[in-house]
Amino acid sequence: MSEQQPPPASTASPSPGSEPGPGADRDAAFQKGDVIIRVRNIKKSYGDREILHGISFDVRKGETVIIMGGSGHGKSTMLRLMIGAELPDSGTIELFGKEITGLAEQEMYPLKKRFGVLFQHGALFASMTVGENIALPLREHTDLDEKIISIIVKLKLELVGLRDFEDLVPSQLSGGMRKRVGLARSIALDPEIIFYDEPGAGLDPVMLAVIDELITGLSDKLGVASIVVTHEMQSAFRIADRMLLMHGGNILAEGTPEEIRASDDPVLQQFINGKAEGPIPLRLSSRDFAEDLLGG
Ligand SMILES: Nc1ncnc2c1ncn2[C@@H]1O[C@H](COP(=O)(O)OP(=O)(O)OP(=O)(O)O)[C@@H](O)[C@H]1O
Ligand SMILES: [Mg+2]
Repeated sequence: MSEQQPPPASTASPSPGSEPGPGADRDAAFQKGDVIIRVRNIKKSYGDREILHGISFDVRKGETVIIMGGSGHGKSTMLRLMIGAELPDSGTIELFGKEITGLAEQEMYPLKKRFGVLFQHGALFASMTVGENIALPLREHTDLDEKIISIIVKLKLELVGLRDFEDLVPSQLSGGMRKRVGLARSIALDPEIIFYDEPGAGLDPVMLAVIDELITGLSDKLGVASIVVTHEMQSAFRIADRMLLMHGGNILAEGTPEEIRASDDPVLQQFINGKAEGPIPLRLSSRDFAEDLLGG
């Protein structure tokens, strides 16, 4: 995603405890532990390369699920399918009990208001200030008064430690700061599900811990489900309720952090311990480099 691309529609419901609004009864439908995302047998190819070979998993309300896996193994693709930004070739994805594959834009719209997304590269509007970026989903999806919007923007900025940066534009921020603004925007409307694509990339260890606490707090206090793609193993073990390892287009392993640590699967062990030696190949292409060069 480039910095110029628009953010996806985010969530537009009232904060828990606020005035009842159109989405006020939405939580009644999902209790802690209920399946809020159901992914079944998802297949996806680009050209003649099948990236996902039949992925299935569930995410429950309030759960933090970590998706790990080597570079190019389809994690971001899986996230894009889950938010309806792309269509799978086959399989089904239910969000809040509703099948989303093939939904028309106007049918998807009310669902989009209930989840937030933090993209791998922030995806902020370059021409808008930090404050305007965060206010955008509020202006798009609510009829809140500008004064209230301004207070919410300040609150969300405070949460990510950027209170004094409201009037800067993205090019005046560091990469890690942009990530934090992206996070503030993704939680602007108190979503029920948040999808994070590498939230820790570019952050220092202290900020990483702050973001971890935020994710855990949203889950514990507000029952927000989080799907987090990350390579930061320390952070992953800190926040996960469950972890999935995507490898070669399949889910190779799935379990609680304890189960994952205890597994003797060599791919899993190589991945969580960050070892160069092991069964995970460096090369993703199917053609052999030497053959390519020598015409073999
Ligand atoms: N729009 C696209 N068109 C063609 N190929 C694509 C497209 N998007 C992704 N791919 C391919 O799909 C594979 C998986 O990509 P994806 O971005 O999902 O990987 P990832 O697991 O998120 O990797 P990373 O950890 O590096 O972010 C890659 O081989 C990539 O080249
Ligand atoms: Mg990715």
